[in-house]
Amino acid sequence: MSEPQGRHGMQQWKGKTAFITGASNGIGAAVATRLLAEGMRVVGSARRHDRVAAVLQKADASGGNSLAVQCDVRDEQSVQEAFSLAKQTFGGVDVLVNNAGLGHAATLAEGKVDEWREMLDVNVLGLCICTRDALADMRSRGGRGHIIHIGSMAGQRVPAGAGLYSATKHAVRALTEALRMELREKGDSIRVGEICPGFVETGFASNYMKSEEKAREVYSRFKVLEADDVAEAVVYMLSCPEHVQIHDILMRPTEQPT
Ligand SMILES: NC(=O)c1ccc[n+]([C@@H]2O[C@H](COP(=O)([O-])OP(=O)(O)OC[C@H]3O[C@@H](n4cnc5c(N)ncnc54)[C@H](OP(=O)(O)O)[C@@H]3O)[C@@H](O)[C@H]2O)c1
Repeated sequence: MSEPQGRHGMQQWKGKTAFITGASNGIGAAVATRLLAEGMRVVGSARRHDRVAAVLQKADASGGNSLAVQCDVRDEQSVQEAFSLAKQTFGGVDVLVNNAGLGHAATLAEGKVDEWREMLDVNVLGLCICTRDALADMRSRGGRGHIIHIGSMAGQRVPAGAGLYSATKHAVRALTEALRMELREKGDSIRVGEICPGFVETGFASNYMKSEEKAREVYSRFKVLEADDVAEAVVYMLSCPEHVQIHDILMRPTEQPT
């Protein structure tokens, strides 16, 4: 049997740097922790700097392989400053995980514009700003890298009552394919892929429903995904040989009916 082409496994990313948005909680915190355990350097970002710092401190006690930065992805300057800090500290980023995101239970008939706008600004525009800045950095250093968008099963079909949130995640799906085509046109060796989870137990549901109690009820209906399950999918995507680009991973809790 012939050898697989190119480097593969997490070995190809050892000592390389991953920039993760929304690393203060949930999926982002799990991905940051896992990539540190896999030998990567990690720049964790979110608005709550203290929480990102605590996540990274737990996973990287010496502090030499991680950096916590405060960043609001809605603010272009804040994103630019975060990437500039990453460059100063680790020389640049090789992997971007666009994870920062949120939902509000804001129907199309009665939702508040502020809540619609926040979902669009964070889930769509914030992801685009981070992607553009990460790409510029990757290209300036030879054009290798990997960008991973955390989409949602809500970007594959439309859950009742979640119109605007679902629209943002359909946009993430379109942006994944659009970026793939732009990268091919330029001949970059940068890969892009999306991971679309169903229910994951994080801070998402309490934020969505504005109630810890209702969130607990949602997560107790059946065994939902854990943030670590999504981190495992990130590692799978990154581990593929250079000639393999996983475009979409759709993952549901086994018992999720919708
Ligand atoms: N949980 C689920 O069932 C589920 C399912 C499918 C997809 N997802 C997606 O998974 C991603 C992560 O969500 P999660 O489930 O881990 O929820 P979470 O526990 O609520 O975490 C959300 C993260 O996003 C960050 N964030 C929110 N607004 C931000 C902003 N303006 N700038 C920077 N960071 C911001 C938060 O950090 P700060 O508040 O500190 O800024 C936090 O770290 C989201 O894109 C979500 O849509 C979740």
